[in-house]
Amino acid sequence: MPNFPPLDRSVQWKISTGAIRFAEAGYRETVEAILSAGLATEVVGLISAGKEADVYLARLHGAPIVVKAYRLYRTSRRGGGSIKVDNMAWRAAFEFEMLHRAWRGGAAVPTPAKRVENLLAMRYLGGSEGPAPRLADLKPLRPRELLEEILAATRALLLAGVVHGDLSAYNVLIHEDRPWFIDLSDSVRVDRLGSSAWQRLQVARQTLARDLASLRSYFARFGSDFDAAPIVDSWMQELVERRELTRARRRPPTPGGTPAGTRVLP
Ligand SMILES: Nc1ncnc2c1ncn2[C@@H]1O[C@H](COP(=O)(O)OP(=O)(O)OP(=O)(O)O)[C@@H](O)[C@H]1O
Ligand SMILES: [Mg+2]
Repeated sequence: MPNFPPLDRSVQWKISTGAIRFAEAGYRETVEAILSAGLATEVVGLISAGKEADVYLARLHGAPIVVKAYRLYRTSRRGGGSIKVDNMAWRAAFEFEMLHRAWRGGAAVPTPAKRVENLLAMRYLGGSEGPAPRLADLKPLRPRELLEEILAATRALLLAGVVHGDLSAYNVLIHEDRPWFIDLSDSVRVDRLGSSAWQRLQVARQTLARDLASLRSYFARFGSDFDAAPIVDSWMQELVERRELTRARRRPPTPGGTPAGTRVLP
């Protein structure tokens, strides 16, 4: 594992170029909002300043915790105007729900703790030396093995009912020698197929294919390639079979004791 810095490189760069300062307008207000919402009892500092959200390292009664704060009025997107409070609260709620769904289904995501308005608290992945490195910060020693692990974790996430939606090397952290997914803000929910099942599956399939293409281009740099199309096909098939099974189990038993969903041959 390389010597990784406590702040991710983008933040260090932004601080060194003066693009952000800890004292910038908004920092103090966000810290106060985090404390008064009861998400933490102490805010340690900024881990990352992203496009639409800032990520803070905090403590709750001594235990480290991460708080992602969707920005209310400020965005560094080009030409970005102000964004309404409601909208950012909705985004935090959406990410919280996705994290919760994934975590409940046993996928490798930080445990969600609590969401209040535009603030989302979750488990801190990292140690006393700093946050866990992103896949993008590392040069994998055994790329094939790591690729297999990430694919297995992506499948587990899908079977938990979530397609990541932005599976870049920036949104995978390596913690305790395992990959973890963060930043589920663009995820697609596939746990409930509902009435427009076909449409949902199409969106899920396309999103999954995009995610795998992104993984593929990262690992190609280290000489590990894979064919994404058959993986997408077989996982989607598996997803549908599992959902059908759950749906069949939920149906009330038919008279005569034949299990629902079972075809009885003449
Ligand atoms: N639970 C966590 N534990 C440790 N570090 C985290 C955690 N969540 C986020 N981070 C750090 O914060 C960074 C940004 O998080 P995230 O990707 O969720 O925010 P973002 O606003 O979408 O960022 P960007 O706009 O750059 O994609 C991550 O790259 C990671 O370094
Ligand atoms: Mg991100």
